[in-house]
Amino acid sequence: MKSSEEWVKETRKFELLYPQDKISQRIKELGQEISHDYAERDPIIIGVLKGCVIFLADLIRNISIPVELEFISASSYNEHLRANDEVLMTGGPKVSISGRHILLVEGVVDSGQTVRAIIDRLRFLEPATIAVVTLLDKPGCRKVEVDIAYRGFETGNDFVIGFGLDAAQRYRNLPFIGRVIE
Ligand code: IMP
Ligand code: MG
Repeated sequence: MKSSEEWVKETRKFELLYPQDKISQRIKELGQEISHDYAERDPIIIGVLKGCVIFLADLIRNISIPVELEFISASSYNEHLRANDEVLMTGGPKVSISGRHILLVEGVVDSGQTVRAIIDRLRFLEPATIAVVTLLDKPGCRKVEVDIAYRGFETGNDFVIGFGLDAAQRYRNLPFIGRVIE
């Protein structure tokens, strides 16, 4: 696997923010917390595509209770670094979530608008509870209020890439998280 140093040297557009070992250690802790908190709740995990994918794959393998897995796809209209205000949603849970406990898994919560829009939609399906799990939380970017139940790391306002997160659809495959410096 290409190292973070090699990636950074080749592109020079970002610097290492969270290395692989730090991320996996944190995901292990989150998995343990969730397994403990949801032991009696038979949760449904709903991943928010596409940013959730790497985080979700690692997280669920660190959860030691049975979970169901569903997805919803969300994106903003433009492909620029700054997402605009309009949230497009497609897909969604293929099973009934009425009366069930939902864990909504995101890669990053920035303005909060994506998660807010998804929660507002899921509420119509009358789940018992919805809790947000995000690998990265950027509280300084918030435009709408969202409760984050589980966060991997609280980070600054800089745009970040890797571990599922993209810049114009690229770099989701970086095995670490980098801060864009251009
Ligand atoms: P929000 O709706 O502003 O909270 O932003 C959520 C969505 O914007 C995420 O699902 C990402 O697709 C994208 N996003 C926000 N900040 C970043 C970032 O720093 N890196 C990559 N994507 C981001
Ligand atoms: Mg994006």
